[in-house]
Amino acid sequence: MKGRFITIEGIEGVGKSTNVAFIEAQCKAAGHSVLVTREPGGTPLAERIRDLILTTPGEGLSDMGELLLMFAARAEHLASLIRPALARGETVICDRFTDATFAYQGGGRGLDTGLINKLQVIVQGDLRPDLTLLLDAPLEVSVQRIASRGDEVDRFEQEQADFFGRVRSAYLKIAAQAPERVRVVDASQPLVEVQARIAEHLSDI
Ligand code: TMP
Repeated sequence: MKGRFITIEGIEGVGKSTNVAFIEAQCKAAGHSVLVTREPGGTPLAERIRDLILTTPGEGLSDMGELLLMFAARAEHLASLIRPALARGETVICDRFTDATFAYQGGGRGLDTGLINKLQVIVQGDLRPDLTLLLDAPLEVSVQRIASRGDEVDRFEQEQADFFGRVRSAYLKIAAQAPERVRVVDASQPLVEVQARIAEHLSDI
């Protein structure tokens, strides 16, 4: 695998979309051929699985079913989009990846991280991101963002603040355990500051 694999993580409302576009522009300016994608999703089938997950409310989907659907979507995404792009030497920028599974299904839902680890190995082998940018901000940022969505909330946005508190803690724990790969960026700073930090981390790889 020659290409670089960059992932962006964080709770709802921390500005992932804006910064994915910034990272794409930075990588292109550095002369890389870039593929931008997202999880769950990224291929037609994986996008259908995404719809299934996000539009099924509460108890209509079990925690275990949710976990396995995330990895089913990931298996498709890896096989038909991510691995071929990396093999072609492209820089792949993915809006969320397996750290989100550890944070949401592990931290948020309370599923066993040992099990998530096993699925990670089954589905990904030894493929891991080269760099993960964790956009971190206080919980109020998520709460405000979700409130602004009105009635159009998805399966995760229906959750309460304590759920997002557990998700955020799980993300920070992952970053503490893998500080070389996972770089925490304070997303509560002005955008220009956030992007200056992101540019520094990108230049490291
Ligand atoms: P998005 O709103 O950032 O596009 O992500 C969709 C939702 O899916 C978001 O609430 C986080 C959730 N998610 C998980 O719970 N587990 C995962 O593994 C991934 C990739 C996303």
